[in-house]
Amino acid sequence: MFLLADKPDGFWFPPQASTFAAEVDWFFFAVTYISLAFFVLIVAFMIYFMYAFRQRPGYKGSPEALHNNALEIGWTVVPTIIAVWIFAQGVVGYLDMMEAPTETMNVDVEAKKWAWSFTYPTTGVTTNELHLVIDKPAKMTLRSIDVLHSFFVPAFRAKMDVVPGRYTNIWFQPTKLGTYDLFCTEYCGDNHSKMAAKVFVQTQEEYDAWMAKEVLPPEDPVKWGEKLYAKSKGCASCHSIDGKKVVGPSFLNSWGGDVQLAGGGTEKFDENYVRESVLYPQKKSRAGYETASQMPSYQGRLKEEEISALIAFLKSLKN
Ligand code: CUA
Repeated sequence: MFLLADKPDGFWFPPQASTFAAEVDWFFFAVTYISLAFFVLIVAFMIYFMYAFRQRPGYKGSPEALHNNALEIGWTVVPTIIAVWIFAQGVVGYLDMMEAPTETMNVDVEAKKWAWSFTYPTTGVTTNELHLVIDKPAKMTLRSIDVLHSFFVPAFRAKMDVVPGRYTNIWFQPTKLGTYDLFCTEYCGDNHSKMAAKVFVQTQEEYDAWMAKEVLPPEDPVKWGEKLYAKSKGCASCHSIDGKKVVGPSFLNSWGGDVQLAGGGTEKFDENYVRESVLYPQKKSRAGYETASQMPSYQGRLKEEEISALIAFLKSLKN
C-alpha cells in the first residue's frame, strides 16, 4: 500500500526524529485511508442511488423499506471490527509512550508564561534550550508554575500537557541529529504563540562539550547576568533589552532613571528596586502595565548571587 508516511521526511509531516514517529505516522495514515475508503464508497453508492431511483415518468418506487439480513449484519460487523482494531492499536501505542525505559537521561521541564526552562538534575544546569543525545531515551518531568501549558515536539510526535500543581511525564528516544522545534500547544495567554524553544539532538561528545561549558557560570558578572536573563531564567520572554515593549517594560537605558509607579509617584531604578521587583513583582508595579499579565515572583528561584549578576547585567544596558 502506498503510504505517505513511508517517506522519512514526508511532504505532509515534519521529519521523523524519534522512535515513536514512524509508528504514529503509520497509524495516522492507516486511519486516514480507512476513512477515505469508506467516504468514497458511501458517496459512490449515494450518487448511484440518486441516479437509479430518480423520479421519472412511468417509474414507481417501492412502497416499503426492504430488509436484507446479510447487508445489516455486514455493515454492523465490519465497522465494529475496524473500530476495535483502531482502539486496540491506540491503547498499545499509548502504553508504549507512557512506559519509559528504566535507563533514561532525565530533564526537569518548567513551563511558565511564556517560556520553557530545562534543568538537568545531574549537573543542575538550567537553560532555555533542550539538549538531548541521539539514540538515548530521555524522560521529561513537566511542571507549570502558572497555568496549563502543553509540551509538543512535532518531530518526535510527542506531546504532553503541563499542569499546574502536579507533575506529568513524557519520554522519547531521538533518532536523528539536528535542531527541532518545541511548541506550547495549550492556549495560555497573550504570548502563547511565542512560547517555543529549540531542541538539539547531539552526539554524546557534542552534548558533553556543551554541558561542560554550561556547568561553569561565567566569571564576568555581566556575562553571567546576561545568561540568566536571556537563557536560564527566561526574563527575556517578557522584558526586552532593545526598548521594545513585549509584555513588561524594556530595560534599555533604565538604570538610574525614574520609574512611574501604578499607584502614583516615582521610584529610582537601582539595585534595591530591581531586587524587590524580582522577589515581589506586584509591590511597586509600573504605571501603564495595569492590564499586563502579572509577573511571577522569583522568590526561591533565584539565588542572591544570581540577583546580583542580573543587576550587573541591567546596569550594563545603560550606554
Ligand atoms: Cu504555554 Cu501556550
